Amino acid sequence: MTLKIPAASKALLFQLAAFLAVHVFAPAWSNFALSLLEGMLAAVFSLRMERWWIPIQFCFAPFVVLALEIGIDPLWYLAAFLILGLVYWNVMTTRVPLYLSGREVASTLAALIPDGPFELADLGSGTGGLIGNLGRLRPEGRYFGIEIAPLPFLFGRIRHLGKSGIEMKWGSYERIDLSRFDVVYAFLSPYPMQDLFTKVTKEMKPGSIFVSNSFEVPGIPADEILEAGGRKLYLWRIRPPSAPSAAHGGDSLPG
Ligand SMILES: C[S@@+](CC[C@H](N)C(=O)[O-])C[C@H]1O[C@@H](n2cnc3c(N)ncnc32)[C@H](O)[C@@H]1O
Repeated sequence: MTLKIPAASKALLFQLAAFLAVHVFAPAWSNFALSLLEGMLAAVFSLRMERWWIPIQFCFAPFVVLALEIGIDPLWYLAAFLILGLVYWNVMTTRVPLYLSGREVASTLAALIPDGPFELADLGSGTGGLIGNLGRLRPEGRYFGIEIAPLPFLFGRIRHLGKSGIEMKWGSYERIDLSRFDVVYAFLSPYPMQDLFTKVTKEMKPGSIFVSNSFEVPGIPADEILEAGGRKLYLWRIRPPSAPSAAHGGDSLPG
């Protein structure tokens, strides 16, 4: 059995190893020179990690030394840490960071939703911008946003406070039932797509639509692929389990 260590924990272990190596054999150098050596060692230890970790590993110790020498009040660091934590802490488990859908995505979605009343869910609704833009274009819809990161959720909640037809909830989409929605939209990352699609096909009703911004579902071709603001929107139409469809593992049908 192989032990799978998360990348962030590995990076931390490499930093600690570099710190120990440099401070056990510490030459009589300045703190900054030592931190450069520490950065180099940490970067070398991290060579087998994804490439973007290497500059981070190299810069970490020198930046700590520089930050200490500039003499900024430590409370600023605490404040920055808390704010970043409230936005990004869940990324360690969800592997989905915050980035926002533009207006073009909202217009494309608004155009593809059939006329008449509908209910739409934005899974991982971020700061609620997509729901706001869609709500202006299709005011007859009802909108539900669910967001796991506390600060973006709070921002979205305050932004849509008192607006009828918009509900913003704090929590994980994994715990909600998707059966009431006519349209489910997700802009997440490659990581959760397989599990999310299993949930979608189990819970969403025939005739409803699932749209994923930018991320495909491995092995399940979309029924339609649209372009919006330089991004691809993958769309699956949910059909009854017996009907041949992409959403149930068969051939895709025209939209
Ligand atoms: C790329 S952003 C998309 C924001 C918004 N939907 C938009 O399109 O502008 C993805 C968001 O999903 C949230 N998220 C990730 N996993 C989640 C989960 N299991 N439940 C709820 N939100 C989640 C993240 O915190 C992040 O804010």
